[in-house]
Formats: sequence, C-alpha cells, structure tokens
Amino acid sequence: MTAPAKILVVFGTRPEAIKLFPVVAALEADPRFTPVVCVSAQHRQMLDQVLEIAGIVPDHDLDLMKPDQTLDGLTAALLTELGRVMDEVSPARVIVQGDTATAMAGALAAYYRKIPVDHVEAGLRSGNIYHPWPEEVNRKIIGQIASLHFAPTEVAAGALIAEQVDPARVLVTGNTVIDALHWVTARIEADPALAAGLAQLEGKFAGKRIIGVTTHRRENFGGGMENIAEAIRQIAARPDVAVIFPVHLNPNVRAVMNSALAGLDNVAMIEPLDYPHFARLLSIAEIMLTDSGGVQEEAPALGKPVLVMRETTERPEGVTAGTAKLVGTETANIVTEIFTLLDDKAAYEAMARAHNPFGDGQTARRIVERLGNEIGR
Ligand code: UD1
Ligand code: UDP
Repeated sequence: MTAPAKILVVFGTRPEAIKLFPVVAALEADPRFTPVVCVSAQHRQMLDQVLEIAGIVPDHDLDLMKPDQTLDGLTAALLTELGRVMDEVSPARVIVQGDTATAMAGALAAYYRKIPVDHVEAGLRSGNIYHPWPEEVNRKIIGQIASLHFAPTEVAAGALIAEQVDPARVLVTGNTVIDALHWVTARIEADPALAAGLAQLEGKFAGKRIIGVTTHRRENFGGGMENIAEAIRQIAARPDVAVIFPVHLNPNVRAVMNSALAGLDNVAMIEPLDYPHFARLLSIAEIMLTDSGGVQEEAPALGKPVLVMRETTERPEGVTAGTAKLVGTETANIVTEIFTLLDDKAAYEAMARAHNPFGDGQTARRIVERLGNEIGR
C-alpha cells in the first residue's frame, strides 16, 4: 500500500487558522493524506484562540511573533524558519491560505525547494497594491508560484485567468470561511455555553441597537485609525446605540482606540473574542462596521449589513450582492452611513438579506478531492 501523502499546512494568523482548520480536518479524515501542521505564530494569542477551539495541536510551532513586528524582520524570519521545517518534513505538497506574510513566505520557501504549493482563497485582487497593503502583492506573488489555485468565487477565478494562470489549475471552491462558520454555529447550538461569555454585556446593553466593530488594517494606521475612533465616538453619542468592539492586539490599533474611546459608557472595548463568541457578536449585531476581510465574508452569509472601512475591496461579491458597502475612513462618511442604516428602515432592509456569494460550506471537501486527483489517488 502506498503511504499517505504528507501535506504541510502552513499558517500564522487568526484568519488563516479559521480558514484552514476545515481543510486540516478534511485531510485528517482522508486516508490518502497525512496533514502536517506548521504554525509560524506570526500571531500568538489570537492564533492560539483558534487552535484551541478547533482542537489543532501544531506539529511545528515557530513562535515568531514579536511586539509591533516589522514586515521585513518578520518576512526574513519566516523564510528561514519555514524553509528549515520544509527540509525536515519533506512534504509532497504545501498548502497556504490568503495573503499574509506567512502565506507569502511559505509559498516562496516551498518554491525554492521545488515543492508544489496549493493556494486556498486564490485570486482575490483589489487592483491597488497599497489597498490592502501588503496583502495585494503577497497574493500576487503566491499566484505566480502556486500549483493549484482554489478560488472562492468565479470573480476570483477570472482574475487569475486574466493573469495568464492556466485555467486547468484553477478550481472554484467557495471560501472555507463558510465551512468554519457552519461548524462553529453547529458547535454553539449543541453547547450554548461556548458563546455565553457575552451575556453580561448583552444584559448591560439590553434594548440598545448593537453595532459590532473590528479594525486592524495597516493602511489605516495613523490618520485612518484616528478617524475611525472619532466616528465610533460620534455614533456612540446616540443613546439608542451600543458598540461592541473586540480590539485587535496590534499596538497601533490599541494605542489610538484606548486614548480616544476609554470611559465611554456605551462603547465596550473588549479583548479579541474567540471564534464562538465572535459568531455570537455577528448574530446579535444589527450592523457590522469593519475593515476585516473575513468579516466581509461572514456578515453577508448571515444577512448582516457590513460597512467596510476601506477605499477598495478584493471581495466585491458582498458589495454586488448588496450586503456590504465601502465607506472609506472619513469620519463624517462613516457616521452618515451608520445613521442611515439605523434610521432608514428601507435602506437597512435592502442590505439585510442573507446571501452566500462565498460558498456553501463544502469548500474543504472540494479542495481535498482535487488534491486527491493531483496525487493520482
Ligand atoms: C496580520 C496580517 C494581515 C491579516 C491580519 C489578521 C501580514 C503582513 N498581516 O496583520 O494580512 O489581515 O494579520 O488579523 O501578514 N499581536 C499580538 N498578539 C497577537 C497578534 C498580534 O500581540 O496574537 C500584535 C504584535 O505586537 C504584532 C502585531 O500585533 O507584532 C502585528 O501583528 P502582524 O501579524 O504583523 O500584523 P497584523 O496587523 O496582525
Ligand atoms: N474574529 C474573531 N474574533 C474577533 C474578531 C474577529 O474570531 O475578536 C474572526 C472573524 O470571525 C473572522 C476573522 O477573525 O473570521 C477575521 O480576522 P481579521 O479581521 O483579524 O483578519 P482579516 O480577515 O482581515 O485578514
């Protein structure tokens, strides 16, 4: 009998972990494969929250996070350390997801060893290399290197083919974030205690209209973050509103938010939520206000209007479907758009429609099936 093919799954941040745990589970369940998990730990606490709920114990943990790490320092360390693990493991293939420094360096280290790299969430393009920065270029680099491109949507597949990627190497799979969301929703249904940690805040804010906020994008650091903080302050001045804001651990986010928003009665700045609790926040929020990529995918699936604090998006499907809207980072514009949704029922109803442009929750299965064909089994 042929030995199972060793697949090295490389990731380092919270969103990659959320979007890859369904793939790791699907590989584990398939006798043709042995997944080997390597985390760079580009994130630490926020990554560990996902590993714990998903029950993943990494085979390799590079523990690379440093406070306020620079892109060049991080990338250099990633390349060296991921290369070392690849030499040790000698995998048949490597899987990376999305557009982080870990994903880009993982793809490059594999390429240097001529190991085929498969890219989950391939083909996202904003068309602007500074929005999002540096992710747009990370994705393009991975797109040049990848062997198989698992595109979440037809739009993403089209972008790859327009860049001369061989259409036979591109598969439209949906996004694994929907697999993860279905999984966590079922877990919470079976055991509501998993997401009960918000109960105290829910009690405190009973009768108020909840706005869920997340922000962390590097291109918004500085002026953008200050504008966002001021917008939250103005929105929270309304007595009928409460803001629940799990604050990203990046010090560039924390410093601005702590000095601008501390002490406001109806703004709850809380620690990053684990995935079940964040799913709970998505379900109790009337509106999500975010610059996150993943939240732009989850909110439409749940029919939650999502206002995106960015100039462009590489996820136009939510905007086309009408559940997402780009609002940029000007304070007045963010406040106006939020107030419109709060005060104009028709505007709210027009956005609040469950729509699933990002898949049906079967993405990991499709990816593993295609990998099976690829290894000829
Ligand atoms: C990274 C990714 C970004 C992704 C985001 C998801 C890059 C260049 N950026 O951005 O694409 O959208 O993750 O959240 O790959 N920190 C902690 N604990 C943690 C995580 C972060 O303290 O668990 C702090 C550290 O000081 C760290 C800093 O945040 O140095 C920045 O982390 P980093 O991974 O470089 O960038 P993110 O902004 O999180
Ligand atoms: N998320 C979470 N806890 C939080 C905030 C977000 O579990 O406090 C999840 C969210 O559901 C989504 C992912 O983290 O799946 C998004 O991560 P982030 O916004 O950090 O990164 P991006 O998606 O922008 O790369």
